[in-house]
Amino acid sequence: MSAEAISASAKFSEALKTVTWDDHEKAEYTEYMQAMLGGKLDISGYTDMVAQHYFAYVVLEEAAEAMRGDAVGGKFVFDSLLRTKALEEDLEHLIGEDWRDRIAPNEATKEYVARMREVCFDWPGGYVAHSYTRYLGDLSGGQVIRASLERAFPEQLAGGKGVAFYLFPEIEDFKAFKVDYRLLLDTVAWSDEEQQKVIDEALIAYRVNTKVLAELGRDLSRYLLDHS
Ligand code: HEM
Repeated sequence: MSAEAISASAKFSEALKTVTWDDHEKAEYTEYMQAMLGGKLDISGYTDMVAQHYFAYVVLEEAAEAMRGDAVGGKFVFDSLLRTKALEEDLEHLIGEDWRDRIAPNEATKEYVARMREVCFDWPGGYVAHSYTRYLGDLSGGQVIRASLERAFPEQLAGGKGVAFYLFPEIEDFKAFKVDYRLLLDTVAWSDEEQQKVIDEALIAYRVNTKVLAELGRDLSRYLLDHS
């Protein structure tokens, strides 16, 4: 649905979800993601995604620090959501102590972080678009991903090790958190034009995320458990 087709009385959070949902589906139905959900990838297939996440969240969360004092952006900075530390722990568990020397951003991740550097540090709407796209996803589909990973690798990921990224110990009720987050989106006094800009940026956020997943899946056979 185009933004124009959304009724003027619709809430911003609803418009944001509706307009971006086609792109959500594209991210969800990448070959790589579907293989992961289906338990078809080996652990290195998962580890490589964690590494890409790391580079993205470092920048997203640098932006969060830059936004902390902003009247609008600061409302969307939640310490309970910050993921960098969890990603560091996961990478140490999955790769070992020298993980920093053994990971690199892929081309799509470089594009993703360049985009965030462009729009998330000085423009609250840009920060909101990118943080919404990642964190609400982590609290939603992320939980489906975690369940499928724990099913596929019960020993390697026992006790939440390697999947700390998907655990939000300070958030008791994910559903309630998402409801409050959407309410917050709806209370920002943005003009229609600004709302549209934020939606457009969320679409870009989905597209760069999908590119990262597509690049991970470009040579999927290297990760497939069953090579036959
Ligand atoms: C394994 C793949 C995925 C599955 C199964 C999945 C599933 C879901 C589901 C069921 C919801 C609805 C939850 C609700 O209404 O509370 C949701 C919401 C969401 N997902 Fe995903 N998702 C996946 C991947 C992704 C990815 C890769 C991203 C971002 C790059 C993402 C971003 C979001 C966002 C932002 C929302 C919140 C939408 C809103 O309520 O405004 N998801 N996801």
